[in-house]
Amino acid sequence: MTTYLLALDQGTSSSRSIVFDTQGRIVASAQQELPQIYPRPGWVEHDPHEIWRTQLTTAKEALAKAGLKASDIRSVGITNQRETTIVWNRRTGAPVHHGIVWQDRRAEPTCQQLREAGHSNTILQKTGLRIDAYFSGTKLKWLLDNVPSARAAAERGELAFGTVDSWLIWQLTGGKRHVTDVSNASRTMLFNVHTNQWDSDLLALLGIPASLMPEVLPSAADFGKTAEDVLGGMINIGGVAGDQQSALFGQACFKAGMAKNTYGTGCFMLMHTGGHFQTSANGLLTTSAAQPGPAPQFALEGSVFVGGAVVQWLRDGLQAIEHSGQVQQLAESVPDSGGVMLVPAFTGLGAPYWEPDARGSITGLTRGSTIAHIARAALESIAYQSAALLLAMSRDAVANGGAAVSELRVDGGACVNNLLMQFQADLLGIPVVRPACVETTALGAAYLAGLSSGVYQSTDELSALWKAERRFVPTLDKSRADELMERWERAVRQTTAH
Ligand code: G3P
Repeated sequence: MTTYLLALDQGTSSSRSIVFDTQGRIVASAQQELPQIYPRPGWVEHDPHEIWRTQLTTAKEALAKAGLKASDIRSVGITNQRETTIVWNRRTGAPVHHGIVWQDRRAEPTCQQLREAGHSNTILQKTGLRIDAYFSGTKLKWLLDNVPSARAAAERGELAFGTVDSWLIWQLTGGKRHVTDVSNASRTMLFNVHTNQWDSDLLALLGIPASLMPEVLPSAADFGKTAEDVLGGMINIGGVAGDQQSALFGQACFKAGMAKNTYGTGCFMLMHTGGHFQTSANGLLTTSAAQPGPAPQFALEGSVFVGGAVVQWLRDGLQAIEHSGQVQQLAESVPDSGGVMLVPAFTGLGAPYWEPDARGSITGLTRGSTIAHIARAALESIAYQSAALLLAMSRDAVANGGAAVSELRVDGGACVNNLLMQFQADLLGIPVVRPACVETTALGAAYLAGLSSGVYQSTDELSALWKAERRFVPTLDKSRADELMERWERAVRQTTAH
């Protein structure tokens, strides 16, 4: 009997389901958009019912397209947008409010109070995180403080908190399991990444009753079984990881110093640091990597806020192109950016700069500059920002006695752009490698499910399945690459000079 793995990938803008065979090849997939709710500037919400509805629909559709029944699926893996915060009633299953999405900034005043009260270092040492409204903890506090009677109900033990993985598992198991995995838990700012347990001091600091919290398991574990009527049969749920850690796993980056970059609307770069917890001296976050077993595993993480989104801006803001796909052609119509630098600091700059008030700029314009140079500079800005992150990671690795990153594995929508990948390799001076399967986020969850259900015996087996589709080898002199990075850093400084 052939065995298949079903990955549910619940992202910020869509829900997707992919059926993989045991060689990690895609058999069928389905996708549905997820509606976004913007109640006020800076606020972003998702309707938990819509999260579940779209996810379930795509799971059924993917199974149907593959011509498979529930009994053909050995195990389900779940990967998800992280930090998004949902609270529901344990008895009725009804959410008390929309989910507060990771991008939502409403909890910033609480974060400011925590910083002013001097909690930054304790939180960093326990959780690996800087205090920020991005993470779930202060979003959860907001819900308890602002949803009528939520706090009283929470204190009576009637409510459950979860990130999107927990919410999906609750639905899939018919309310039987309230669980999460370490990689999702590590994004809450309430989780001690050394002990792999909720931190009672941090829960107390934010006034969060412990009864709200899900049970935390390794990323490959028994997360329950789907209820009979959900997918037409009971299937074991065997793998769970937050989407960025899942992509790191799907890229077979299991050892210290291995790194991946996902080129989406933003870019997320993670470098595995093995069992070693290290905080960054260069503005990166420390996070739990997907953990196949009970031993803590860590990664350093940095994100670029405006990655592929700069191409949307070229299309919708500047109206330089009609379709995003045209950007490569326009950028390739000139040999280089002609000295033009575009820093897309539209919403400030994240790691390694952390300049929330920076704003975008285009510099180096001459009489000869054309829209093609600007398009090229826009595309290159994705590579420059990613290079700055990778250099920061390598500096941290070396400072901790490790080696600099020697290869970057890539995935996400924009990694199909060969011009961008080549420029990335040129800037970094190391090979940039695109795998045969770029659906690494879903693949990571499928692999975790396959590990816990005995399809795979070890991560070595998964490393052997990982295949490169194309290696982009640096062709630029190191001195020229350094000069370009210096020019980029100068342009960045100008965006923060007002
Ligand atoms: O931390 C947020 C991240 O997990 C969201 O990922 O791919 O859904 O935008 P994505």
